[in-house]
Amino acid sequence: MKFLSLSLLSVSALSAFVQAGPLAAMDQLRIFRTSEPELRLIQYGEDTPPKWMTESDKEALFRAGVKYMDITDHRNAAASTFSSWTPYIPTKSKYQSEVTPFIGNLTTDGMVEHLTKLTSFRNRYYKSSYGAQSCRWLIKQIQGIAEGTDHVSVKEFKHKVKKKKKKDWDQFSIIARFEGSNKDLDNELVIVGAHQDSVNMWLPTYGRSPGADDDGSGTVTIIEAFRSLVENGFRPERPVEFHWYSGEEAGLLGSQAVSEAYQEEGRHVVAMLQNDMTGYIGDNGEVIGIVTDHVDEKLTDFLKNLVDNYADIPYTLTKCGYACSDHASWRKLGYPSAFTIESAFDDSNHYIHTGGDTIDKLSFDHMKEFSKVAIGFAVELSHLRD
Ligand SMILES: *[C@@H]1O[C@H](CO)[C@@H](O)[C@H](O)[C@H]1NC(C)=O
Ligand SMILES: [Zn+2]
Repeated sequence: MKFLSLSLLSVSALSAFVQAGPLAAMDQLRIFRTSEPELRLIQYGEDTPPKWMTESDKEALFRAGVKYMDITDHRNAAASTFSSWTPYIPTKSKYQSEVTPFIGNLTTDGMVEHLTKLTSFRNRYYKSSYGAQSCRWLIKQIQGIAEGTDHVSVKEFKHKVKKKKKKDWDQFSIIARFEGSNKDLDNELVIVGAHQDSVNMWLPTYGRSPGADDDGSGTVTIIEAFRSLVENGFRPERPVEFHWYSGEEAGLLGSQAVSEAYQEEGRHVVAMLQNDMTGYIGDNGEVIGIVTDHVDEKLTDFLKNLVDNYADIPYTLTKCGYACSDHASWRKLGYPSAFTIESAFDDSNHYIHTGGDTIDKLSFDHMKEFSKVAIGFAVELSHLRD
C-alpha cells in the first residue's frame, strides 16, 4: 500500500518524464530515483518504443489486459548476430516407439495432488513471502522425482543477487536437466517450460490467487511429463530441460533472466515449448490451442504434427498477442519457441488473475493431453537428425 500513495504523488512529474522518451529518462534516472518510486521500463509491442512507468502504472496496465515484457534489467536483449549456428527443426515425428511408453505411463494422480497443494498457497506472487514458500515446496517435489538418478539434476535459478539490489526477488526459477548421451551435443538444448507464479491483479502482494489454471495447470502438466520420462529411463541424445519460471506475471521476468544467461553462455537452444494454461475446456469443444503469432513458424508446424501424433484431441490455431507468455523471452533472443494453450485464446479461462481461478473449473484429463505433447516434443527434438 505504501508505494501506491508514494507513486500517486509523482504522477504529474512522471508523465512529463515519460514523454521525454526512454533515453532522456535513462539519463535522469539516477537523480529521479533518490526521491521518487522506482521506475520500470515496459515494452508492450514489437515496434512500439518501451516506456518508463511506476510499479502501480505497470499494474494498471496489467489489469487493463495489456501484455508486456518488463525489460528494466534486460534493455539490450536481442538475438545474437554473430552466431552462425541454426537449429534443425524436423517436420514429422519419427520416434513413436520411444514416445509411446512414456505417454502410456501418464496419470492424473500426481497432477491432482500437486495442483491441490500449489493452489493452497495464498498466492504465488513472485515477490511475496507466499511466492517464496511455494517455490521451495515446488522444487522439493521435482527433486523427489529426480532422486536416485545420475543423469537428471534439479537446481534453483536465483533472482535474488546477494546483498545487491532490493528490486531482486526471492522466488527462484527451477531448472531440471537430463544430460544428453551424445557429448558432441552438450551445448545444445531442448526446453519445456511453464510459469510457477500467480497473481491477483487487484492486490498482487496479499490478494488470494490460487492460480489453478494460470499457470498451476501448466506447472503440473510438465511435472507429470517430467516424472514419466525420469521414471521410465529417458536418455536423450542432446540435453533436455524442464523450466518453471518465476515472475511471468510481472512481465516475463524469470524467463528473461534465464534466457539471457543462456545466451551469454553461448548455449544453443534448439527449441522451447511453453505450457501456460492447460486445464480449462472452452465452450467450443476440447482442443489444444496452438499459438501462431510471435512464435517460430517451423517449430509451430512441427507442433501440429506432434498433436496429430501424440494427443487424443485435435488442435486449433489461435493468437495471443505480444509477450503473452515466457516463450516470448526465448524468441526475442532468436531461439525457436512455441506455445500450447488450453483452447482458442478467446475461449480460455476468464477467472485468471483473481481468487476465482480454482481447480473445480478445470479438467485433469485435458491437462494430460498437454503432458503427451510435451513428452513428444522432448523426445522427438532430443534426437540428432539430418
Ligand atoms: C509407470 O512407470 C513406473 C516405472 O516404470 C511403474 O512403476 C508404474 O507402475 C507405471 N504406472 C503406470 C500407471 O503405468
Ligand atoms: Zn497469467
